[in-house]
Amino acid sequence: MEKELPPPAPFVQRRRAKANSLLRVLSILSLVAVGAYVSLFTVHLRGNASLSSIPINANEILDKCRNLNVVPGPPRDFYSRSESDRFERGTKPVLIKNATIWTGEKVIKGGDVLLDRGIIKAIGSVDENDYDLGFVNKLNAHGAWLSPGIVDLHSHLGVDSAPALKGSDDTNSLKGITQPWLRSLDGLNTHDDAYRLSIAGGVTTAVVLPGSANSIGGQAFAIKLRPTSEKSPSSMLLEPPFSFNGSGIEPFDPPRWRLLKQACGENPSSVYSQTRMDNIWSFRKAYSTAQSIKQSQDDFCSSALSNSWSSIGGSSATFPDSLEWEALVDVLRGRVKIQNHCYEAVDLDGIIRLTNEFKFKIAAFHHAHETYLVPDLLKKMYGGEPPAVALFATNGRYKREAYRGSEFAPKVLAENGLNVVMKSDHPVLNSRYLLHEAQQAHYFGLEEELALKSVTVTPAKVMGMDHRIGYVKEGYDADLVLWDSHPLSLGATPKQVFIDGIPQLKSPHFISKPAKVQTPPKTPNWDREAKEAVEWDGSQPLGPRERFNTHTGREVVMFVNVESMYVKGQGRVLKVFGEEETNGKGVVLVEDGEAICKSVAGRECLQLVERFKQEQEVKIKVVDLDGGSLAPGLVSYGSDLGLSHIAMESSTSDGPAPDPLSANPPAILGDTVIRAVDGLVFESRNALLAYRAGVTSAITPPSSSGFLSGLSTVFSTGSSHALEQGAVLKPVTALHVGISMSGEKSVATQVGALRRIILSGLKEETQSEEGELGAVVRKVLDGTLPLIISVDSADIMASLIHLKKEVEGTLGTGREIKIVFDRAAEAHLVAEQIGQAGIGVILSPVRAFPSTWEQKRILPGPPLSQDTAITKLLKNNVTVALGTSHNWGWVARNARFDAGWTSLDSSGLISDAQALELVSTNLEKLLGVQEGGEGENTDWVATRGGSLLDFEAKVVGVVSSRRGVVDLF
Ligand SMILES: *[C@@H]1O[C@H](CO)[C@@H](O)[C@H](O)[C@H]1NC(C)=O
Ligand SMILES: *[C@@H]1O[C@H](CO)[C@@H](O)[C@H](O)[C@H]1NC(C)=O
Ligand SMILES: *[C@@H]1O[C@H](CO)[C@@H](O)[C@H](O)[C@H]1NC(C)=O
Repeated sequence: MEKELPPPAPFVQRRRAKANSLLRVLSILSLVAVGAYVSLFTVHLRGNASLSSIPINANEILDKCRNLNVVPGPPRDFYSRSESDRFERGTKPVLIKNATIWTGEKVIKGGDVLLDRGIIKAIGSVDENDYDLGFVNKLNAHGAWLSPGIVDLHSHLGVDSAPALKGSDDTNSLKGITQPWLRSLDGLNTHDDAYRLSIAGGVTTAVVLPGSANSIGGQAFAIKLRPTSEKSPSSMLLEPPFSFNGSGIEPFDPPRWRLLKQACGENPSSVYSQTRMDNIWSFRKAYSTAQSIKQSQDDFCSSALSNSWSSIGGSSATFPDSLEWEALVDVLRGRVKIQNHCYEAVDLDGIIRLTNEFKFKIAAFHHAHETYLVPDLLKKMYGGEPPAVALFATNGRYKREAYRGSEFAPKVLAENGLNVVMKSDHPVLNSRYLLHEAQQAHYFGLEEELALKSVTVTPAKVMGMDHRIGYVKEGYDADLVLWDSHPLSLGATPKQVFIDGIPQLKSPHFISKPAKVQTPPKTPNWDREAKEAVEWDGSQPLGPRERFNTHTGREVVMFVNVESMYVKGQGRVLKVFGEEETNGKGVVLVEDGEAICKSVAGRECLQLVERFKQEQEVKIKVVDLDGGSLAPGLVSYGSDLGLSHIAMESSTSDGPAPDPLSANPPAILGDTVIRAVDGLVFESRNALLAYRAGVTSAITPPSSSGFLSGLSTVFSTGSSHALEQGAVLKPVTALHVGISMSGEKSVATQVGALRRIILSGLKEETQSEEGELGAVVRKVLDGTLPLIISVDSADIMASLIHLKKEVEGTLGTGREIKIVFDRAAEAHLVAEQIGQAGIGVILSPVRAFPSTWEQKRILPGPPLSQDTAITKLLKNNVTVALGTSHNWGWVARNARFDAGWTSLDSSGLISDAQALELVSTNLEKLLGVQEGGEGENTDWVATRGGSLLDFEAKVVGVVSSRRGVVDLF
């Protein structure tokens, strides 16, 4: 039977003790020296306990025992603080005037905020003369949005550092399956390039978690991202638990919340080559150990607090503790906010059972792709209150666990009363753009206030820190972001970021944004899609709701209430008409993929329709776009789209092409050049989702991280198989090579090999017999086959620019080879020379991140630089296009938003039509797809409620003459 413990002494009653800690020390001394019975504390050492039966540190033990089950919280005097414990001496007060403040609860228009001593001093209408402050920095917000700092509940910032070096991977310890004793703080690199970048995205606080290689990976720590004057990891901690430096309990204040990382499912299983059964057992074993320690502590304390020292060893009584397991014991005492990486119903169920078996709570399930399918299961967690769920917006399907993930999960979970957090898993997603996750969740149906809360208030709560961060409220930490547009609008960028009242951007670069992005976007309705996702357990059919074949008779699609229309022509995208002209009332008739009539006010086309109606055989399908748009189909480039269903499952993917520069390329290959078309797979969910987002063709190279990957292909994302009409637009598009410092051979070897291949092609031109590679290279040499080189480093680009000149010098006048740099993180550094050399650039990813050393010198764009890589290249007459990161098929669907964002970031340099070019005609141009020629995407995409480039619109149809179909979603 469990012993009854005396209730823990509440802190308020024990205030007087704090007043005299000297007395406390003395009391212990006097206890020993005088042997007298000292009655200073609430629990008296009484009865017949003889002096020798009492341990010398009895009072320390009693303090510990009394605090054993105290619930964590802020220090007692926290709410009356006038200065933050993180205040940096010398920081001047700041008065922000006339902001539109989203406080975390409500909007205050035309509000002022006063920051002083690291905290928010006043909000509303503030007159600085009412305060005795001295010099105050003033900032007029001119009505701009001001929000709480962004809080990232799931980051590996500082432990999985950028750039990645062997010396900077401190994420996963592989020394055991359950290691609650490890601490992310011990690996926190203060020199990670990402701190500055994430701050530039408004991130002020992050929970730095150990990785997911273990069931229990270790303790996590919340940090603020700003540099500190002490320059140490410890000084970055938000509110350190007493255990972090071994100082143990602070007997006069409640303990602070601790954080722990747990993981279930594939990651711990694969790392330890075990099964889910082993995983859950590893948890039960660890918790059982912690449970016994807890029980012995409770028993011990029961005796100590009732002064029965003799029963627990008398003068040698020692509090039963374990440095290894104390964090897990604290879990059982309800003092740890567990962040649990967990995806699938099977794993979620296992953990929910575990919480009930051992009586503890999970603060949040992370990644959690299947939580939206099992909301009621989450409500069965021990303690009654369900855990929060921390999600990506559209990143999914990369492994089995993530396959059923849905962009509607935030919406569905919120509708089921669960708390939704959007997270980065930085550097998996660059946390600089964590807000974009909330924006996308909002686009897919998470309501406005919850979307804003999902990266501020809610994560602050889930980590137990909502007494000081997550809100713009008096007394809170002075962590705020002033935005250039509404935070839920596409591309919202900080104009200034404050952490602990310190402005973080030295001389920020602003872009003035259009009025339409100053209010939250009116996002589409996704009720039907969300319901279907749940009904089908995340594998709802993604094909069109309605498809008609345009060859079965005369079929005309009439789009009405069209606001804007874009067409392809002369290798460009042109705006036919826009809002100014149509007032949202345009009409377009499409027959056989051709716009046979387009009229701004609709009249002409409606007359034509009247004529058609008299001709019996013409079928007319009317599609109301409600102020929407018609635009050319978009093109995706560079991902594994078309080569894989589930990126991390080799049995669902084409697999990597062998690297001819590797140690043992298979001899049977000879000089075969791998063609992506030979490995194409159709109907992957990533491809179909891209199709439904207006990306109707994709250009995919063979997947390879090596030197020579092979020949890319162009295919239709909406086709069912390769033999369908129009499924493969162009079997062979371009030759792909990759040159990198992380290649198997030296960079000089890779460049040398490329030189040799090209020059030997030149020699073979004169010979009658040529091999497969020779034939391919000959096409490169005569300029009909582009050579796409994946390269990030500006230094390697310089060598390649030399190589191009050298080869062209040998070729003789007038002959040029078509070279394109893909990836191209550092291209802006040699933008002028790239322009002069006539080399094109495909930026992939679109917004660069210094993952590796050779990507270190990115041009970050506003607010850190006025130019973006794109504007810098365009200004140097470089043909630029937007691609996607290799292997990231899930990103393909976001091409429309990438393009829209690029335009918003360009200070007016890139029009809507040009933004569309970046993800259509420019890609085709660079990949050698001729206008009107093989491989060209001639599809139309219809959107309702807005254009492809904004958060208002939903893609409702694709008209594809080359495939002979009209698809409606
Ligand atoms: C606040 O800014 C808005 C937008 O620029 C402006 O219209 C308004 O007049 C300003 N209010 C004050 C009190 O300056
Ligand atoms: C541990 O850190 C706390 C909080 O910063 C500090 O008050 C205490 O003195 C430190 N203890 C030791 C042993 O360094
Ligand atoms: C870009 O092209 C334009 C028009 O051909 C020319 O006037 C301009 O000087 C070029 N800019 C650069 C940086 O080469």
